Amino acid sequence: MFKKVGKKILREKLINEEILEIIQRNMMPMNELMAYYRCAIMEVETKFKVLNEEFSLQYDRNPIENIKSRLKSTDGIIRKLNRKELPFSLESIEENINDVAGVRVICSFPEDIYMLAECLLSQDDIKLIEKKDYIKNPKESGYRSLHLIIEVPIFLKNEKKSMKVEVQLRTIAMDFWASLEHKLRYKKSIDPEEAEIISKELIECSEISASLDKRMEEIRNRIEKKC
Ligand code: GTP
Ligand code: MG
Repeated sequence: MFKKVGKKILREKLINEEILEIIQRNMMPMNELMAYYRCAIMEVETKFKVLNEEFSLQYDRNPIENIKSRLKSTDGIIRKLNRKELPFSLESIEENINDVAGVRVICSFPEDIYMLAECLLSQDDIKLIEKKDYIKNPKESGYRSLHLIIEVPIFLKNEKKSMKVEVQLRTIAMDFWASLEHKLRYKKSIDPEEAEIISKELIECSEISASLDKRMEEIRNRIEKKC
């Protein structure tokens, strides 16, 4: 028992020392890499803003309610590398961590999600790496969103660099559910029996929210037909 604990502490100590050493050696290049990811976020945000603008001119309505972007913290990156037992290097981050740059696009209606995704993916500088449709196939938790891992070029002084960005597209209702579920999931000290009841409740709430999305979309379509 003590041997096991001792080994674990030693491994954690080694990992911490290794991480510290790597951080010191890679501080500048790491800052540079994070700046590239920030640029990639700006590129993707602009693409969505342009699509929103064009749509608003053509159809007199905005398909995008809000865009929220985030850059994964260094801490978060290190924890993910550690969790997946991946090497601690900049190359490894670029190769293996797809969500360093994250852009969340909150749409008005489910149809807008697919329309925007299609418009984005048809742009000739965007490369699709992975697509996960958690709207057609919700997660066990009840989570719904459309996830795209894309590569977008950023133009630097002397080079063009492709950066990965995770795009999450969801409706206001899907975002409302995901935000609250995320907060509740991290509440501690819930006993297992209670946790199971809560999970079932959350799945039901997600279904109610999906049916609300559908009804609101039908109302929108009715109104548009009349105009
Ligand atoms: P990660 O390693 O956590 O990034 O998972 P993954 O690579 O399998 O990606 P996945 O597409 O399943 O989910 C990534 C992101 O989607 C998470 O960081 C969350 O933002 C969101 N997400 C996925 N599942 C859930 C869920 O059950 N609840 C909530 N609130 N968010 C979720
Ligand atoms: Mg993630």
